[in-house]
Amino acid sequence: MNRITVSSPSNIALIKYWGMRDEQLTLPNNISLSMTLSQCVSLCTLAPLHSGTPDEILWRTREGTLVPANASLRFGIEYHLGQLRQHFDHWQPLRIATSNSFPTGAGIASSASGFSALAMAFALQCDQDCDAARISELARLSGSGSATRSAFGGFVQWPGDARQLAGPAQPFAPAQHWPLCDLIAVVDARHKKVSSRQGHHLAASSPFYRTRLDLLPDRLNTVRQAILNRDFTALANAVECEAVEMHMIAMTSQPPVFYWQPTTLALLERVRQLRGEGLQVCTTMDAGPNVHVICTAQHRSQVFAALRSLPGVVRWIFDQAGDGPRRLEHHLF
Ligand code: PMV
Repeated sequence: MNRITVSSPSNIALIKYWGMRDEQLTLPNNISLSMTLSQCVSLCTLAPLHSGTPDEILWRTREGTLVPANASLRFGIEYHLGQLRQHFDHWQPLRIATSNSFPTGAGIASSASGFSALAMAFALQCDQDCDAARISELARLSGSGSATRSAFGGFVQWPGDARQLAGPAQPFAPAQHWPLCDLIAVVDARHKKVSSRQGHHLAASSPFYRTRLDLLPDRLNTVRQAILNRDFTALANAVECEAVEMHMIAMTSQPPVFYWQPTTLALLERVRQLRGEGLQVCTTMDAGPNVHVICTAQHRSQVFAALRSLPGVVRWIFDQAGDGPRRLEHHLF
């Protein structure tokens, strides 16, 4: 069987994109910048089936069993597959299996890792050895903007072309430049009730949305400079402001969207305290209640020791800055 397997990482946005200027083409209203992770990954295996047979879309459970994908996963994969098929004019039926090393649909960017993995695997299936910029554009066809950034490792900006706010993501600095750690506090592993797609759609209904867009260029510059200079204090202040502001837009949309839970807030407060005590640590959250606790490698053990007994965290995931997608020689089936 001619199988192709790709492993692709998730990423955490330090500057978030929230709201689109074209929902059909997945074009954002603002530039975003993320850190690619190394432990939170999606695997995707593809194999061709005989012409005339229907696609088979499978999910590998944590126990290692392959089961038919649930309706929401199936819907996302079928949509992306349709776009990729049209793009490559390649219509062979496929068996697709996918798995995540972390909770799905809970605001840890499983769409970013999942769709970038599918994009690269599909391109390889069509015998196209794509570069990362091309994979980034193919990943965007899924409708998930964050997937464009997972095509690269390290610190990544999307869109790379700031003047046109279009095109693929672009690498900004490699993971080795500043191997920051991300301790992910899983507060709720269940699938979120309001998807980021719905959140993007509602963003412009917040009376504060325009102000946010006006403030973002300066904040992006601050974060870029902080990364270049490895200046944790500057990074922490900007990244925390940014996350709160994105969630404030969600909470003031019509209707409002509340992703936070009480434990989310408890973590935010505790981490600010720890920073006051001199630890290099800050928080950020994507569209979900789970908190990414970003810290330097030097302070990681102290940060975890201070947070591990906080009630309400159901699981901790230890991650750090990592590289982009890669092809694997072992397969999901
Ligand atoms: O990738 P999408 O289109 O599902 O949206 C992601 C939205 C955020 O994670 C909240 C922000 C971001 O830039 O990743």
